[in-house]
Amino acid sequence: MPVSMEELVRLCKARGFVYPSAEIYGGFRSTYDYGPLGVLMARNVKEAWWRQMVQLRREVVGLDAAVLSSPKIWEASGHLKNFTDPLVDCRNCKQRWRADEIATFEVARIPGTVTPVPEEPRTGVLTCPNCGSHDFTEARPFNLMFKTFAGPVEDEGAVAYLRPETAQGHFVNFANVLQSEHLKPPFGTAQIGKSFRNEITPGNFVFRTREFEQMELEYYVPPADAQRWFEYWREERFQWYVRLGIPSEMIRLRNHAKEELSHYSAGTTDVEFAFPWGWGELEGIANRTDYDLKAHAAASGQPLEYFDATTGERYVPYVVEPAAGVARTMMAFLIAGYTTDEVAGEKRTYLRLHPRIAPYQVAVLPLSKKENLSSLALEVLALVQPVTMCDYDDTRSIGRRYRRQDEIGTPLCVTVDFDSLEDKAVTVRDRDSTAQERVPIDRLVEVINSRLSW
Ligand code: GAP
Repeated sequence: MPVSMEELVRLCKARGFVYPSAEIYGGFRSTYDYGPLGVLMARNVKEAWWRQMVQLRREVVGLDAAVLSSPKIWEASGHLKNFTDPLVDCRNCKQRWRADEIATFEVARIPGTVTPVPEEPRTGVLTCPNCGSHDFTEARPFNLMFKTFAGPVEDEGAVAYLRPETAQGHFVNFANVLQSEHLKPPFGTAQIGKSFRNEITPGNFVFRTREFEQMELEYYVPPADAQRWFEYWREERFQWYVRLGIPSEMIRLRNHAKEELSHYSAGTTDVEFAFPWGWGELEGIANRTDYDLKAHAAASGQPLEYFDATTGERYVPYVVEPAAGVARTMMAFLIAGYTTDEVAGEKRTYLRLHPRIAPYQVAVLPLSKKENLSSLALEVLALVQPVTMCDYDDTRSIGRRYRRQDEIGTPLCVTVDFDSLEDKAVTVRDRDSTAQERVPIDRLVEVINSRLSW
């Protein structure tokens, strides 16, 4: 059965994935903090992205640009003028909404699931989610960027913006990267970092927040090849989610209608996931053309182009951009992995997470806290810790400890029992099948590596 949002939020808090921020003060404006397991899982999501986008490629390099940024960047990029959402007020209950989000939706079903999901807007009619009224003020553009001041004086000259996307940090460093690296299109820069948007209606847990992390690749290609690379990245990114365990019937690619396109995009496809409330964007793949490089070249007076010294060719590359969010990806893995079954006549909940994504890959569980068993278990822990992230738990009954590890998605439990003192072997238990195997301690690391199928 698909997990409900209430259950997901409960599990995230109880197990230390995500806490409401400033909860002791009643929370703060849809902000969230990541707990011990959330930190591990978010790191794994980012690491899996980095591995695919940078480590396993020859032509992609990393970047980490400043969050606090010059108004000149956002002036040139068009964000100061265009990065807006249509804001409407309900005349009846005075609530504020994003007009595009409250258009009436048609309900459809995803094949193979029982989840009802909203499809594309059916009509342009706005309906207030709070009171059901259709009486709204005219939509007016609301700029989503967070404005602040750099330095002690709060005047116009000190205005700075918190970046609403990491992408512009790539574009303003285009010439720097070309100068320090020997790259020729197609090549890319990859960046993971925080972005900020003053969202009108944050919500659906960590799906839409005002502070969030993005994973963005800007891929520079010869203009004539842009469509081919756009299609390549759509497929590549779709398969990344599937390889990491999202069932293919829970995600889809959806092309943006013309009216939906961002001001810089000639074509965008979203990777969407079947969230409990319906299809929602995990990632956008856009053909940004030469819009950004040309805009920054014009505004800064610096040429931002590629020059091929061997052919004498000079051109402004097109940019294909796969841009994903860390929190949404985490949520998708948690929702897709949430599974219930029965073990020894008892209901069990477990997270079927890919080993690369699970917070811990291994838990070492001594059967008792007795001194001789603890010291052997700690030796086992010391063997596994350099290999992968390992939990250690010697509290409560072994059955309850297995349940906890299942519920946080740990693929393997290593139990150290009294026989281990004699036979120098441990029991390795598989999360999904609950099958157990006796493994000599001196072969444990080898077995773990093969079972986790890195
Ligand atoms: N540079 C292009 C860009 O920023 P986007 O579709 O606006 O494109 C990319 O954002 C991804 O960032 C989204 O697919 C989503 O995963 C994540 N994201 C955007 N806004 C978000 C928000 N308010 N809260 C959480 N994640 C967000």
